[in-house]
Amino acid sequence: MSDLFYDEFADYYDEMINWESRLKFEGKHFKKLFGRHGVKRVLDAGCGTGKHSILFAGLGLQVVGIDASEPMLEQAKRNAEEEGAKGIRFAVGNFAELTRTIRGRFDAVVCLGNSLPHLIADADVVQTLREFYALLRKGGLLVLQGVHFDHYLDSAESAVAVTDGVRDGRPITFRRHYEFKGTKVIFHVSVFDRYRRELLENYNSPLNPIRRELLETFLEKVGFTDIQFYKNIALRPLTAASKNLACLARKPEV
Ligand SMILES: C[S@@+](CC[C@H](N)C(=O)[O-])C[C@H]1O[C@@H](n2cnc3c(N)ncnc32)[C@H](O)[C@@H]1O
Repeated sequence: MSDLFYDEFADYYDEMINWESRLKFEGKHFKKLFGRHGVKRVLDAGCGTGKHSILFAGLGLQVVGIDASEPMLEQAKRNAEEEGAKGIRFAVGNFAELTRTIRGRFDAVVCLGNSLPHLIADADVVQTLREFYALLRKGGLLVLQGVHFDHYLDSAESAVAVTDGVRDGRPITFRRHYEFKGTKVIFHVSVFDRYRRELLENYNSPLNPIRRELLETFLEKVGFTDIQFYKNIALRPLTAASKNLACLARKPEV
C-alpha cells in the first residue's frame, strides 16, 4: 500500500517544507473556516508527517490522520509526540479504500499539499472523492488544496521551488520541480550538498495534473454541492496566474 516516493524521503520531508510560515498563515484561516462550519471532527487524508493534524488537534478538534506511507506516519507520530499533541489517531490507509479502514462520520475531510494528484487514474480520483463523501456527515465540508495545474499547463512558466535544510548536520538544498510531458507531469525532488553543490539524491513520482474544470465535474458527479475554487486557504480569488488552488465543497444537508 506504500507510496515508495514518500517512504524514501519521509525522514527529511519536514526539512523541505517551511512549516513555520505555512502553518502560521494557514492556521488562522483553518481556524476561521472550521469555526464557521462547526467542525469538531476532521479527517486529514494524506496527512504526511502530520503537521496539519497537529495544528487541528491544537484547535481542540478530534483528528484522524491517514496516509499510505508508513514511514511518513512514523514521522507524524514522532512529530505529534514531540509537540505534545493529543487526540490524533494516525492510521495507514489508501485514499480509494478509506471506508475499509475508517469508521464514523467527519464534519470535515481535508486533503492538502497536492496529495490528490498522486492518483494517476481519473477513476481513482473519482473513487477517492466518493470515499471522502461517504465519510462526511450531511452538510460536511471537503477541503482540497494543491497546485493549480491549469496555470502551468496554459503558460510557459516553469514550476521550481528551492529550499534549504539540514540533514545529519550537513547543509543541503532541495530542488522541487514539475516536468511537463504533454498532459503528463513528473514531480522531481533533487537533494544537493549546499556547499559542494553535489547531487546527493534524486526522487521522482508521476502526478495527475487535474484541471480545475475536470475536478469540478468529478465533485459534481459524486454529489458534492457549493463547489468553490480559491487560490489558497485564505479564500482569495483564483485567477489564471494563481500557482496554487484550494477547493471547498459540501455534502448536501439532505
Ligand atoms: C505531498 S504529501 C502532502 C502531505 C501533507 N498533507 C502536506 O500538506 O504536507 C502527499 C502525501 O499523500 C500520501 N499519499 C499519496 N498517495 C496516497 C494514497 N493513494 N493514499 C493515501 N495517501 C497517499 C503520501 O504518502 C504523502 O504523505
